[in-house]
Amino acid sequence: MLSAVQEPAAVAAVTVVPLNVVSLPGSVRTGAFSSRLLDEIRQVWKPSAVLTDTCDLDALPFFNQDVEGEDDAPPRVRELRRGVADADALLIVTPEYNRSLPARVKNALDWCSRPHGACALTGKPVAVVTCSPAPSGGIVAYHHARQVLHAAGALPVGSKEFAVPNVFTCFDERGEFVENTVRDWLTELLTELSAAVTSGAR
Ligand SMILES: Cc1cc2nc3c(=O)[nH]c(=O)nc-3n(C[C@H](O)[C@H](O)[C@H](O)COP(=O)(O)O)c2cc1C
Repeated sequence: MLSAVQEPAAVAAVTVVPLNVVSLPGSVRTGAFSSRLLDEIRQVWKPSAVLTDTCDLDALPFFNQDVEGEDDAPPRVRELRRGVADADALLIVTPEYNRSLPARVKNALDWCSRPHGACALTGKPVAVVTCSPAPSGGIVAYHHARQVLHAAGALPVGSKEFAVPNVFTCFDERGEFVENTVRDWLTELLTELSAAVTSGAR
């Protein structure tokens, strides 16, 4: 039986550790829409997730299987692989180039997928967001990215297609992000990414 007056239950101190998410940006163009979208994601996901760029993808050499081994790989590749392996999750925010994902992203994923048996992407939850000034939102690149991630053994998350159409409409004339529907999607995506991390991959 419950007593009339209950002692307050002791509240355990809970420390919420933010997700460590490595971002792989698809564009370095000055003023790139995808970079601006990435900035918005950084804001929306704060403080639940901290986004870091583990290395400059443009500084990576093109993939070469002769030097794919852990001891032979170029230093920047080893740095990328270490960052990816240590991350809770990855985030790819990218435009579509010629109906696919930009080579810089594919190159980074190829390096991370090797050597066989030591893939830094295995079981890694990955969120993909594409955008385009066109109405398609870069949907083909979105699916290509997920296909590549599946092939490498990663875990692409997202119950809907996170492809942002007409991306220029997301920003006002001062460059402020004004598209609340997209902001809501981004929150949803973080929820799905967090769920994938906490369900075992972390
Ligand atoms: C090489 C190249 C190929 C492109 N191919 C596509 C494409 O297949 N689909 C698309 O929607 N936009 C395509 N675009 C247009 C880009 O979506 C547009 O330039 C966009 O602003 C680039 O993204 P960013 O602003 O993040 O740099 C292409 C642009 C370039 C430079």
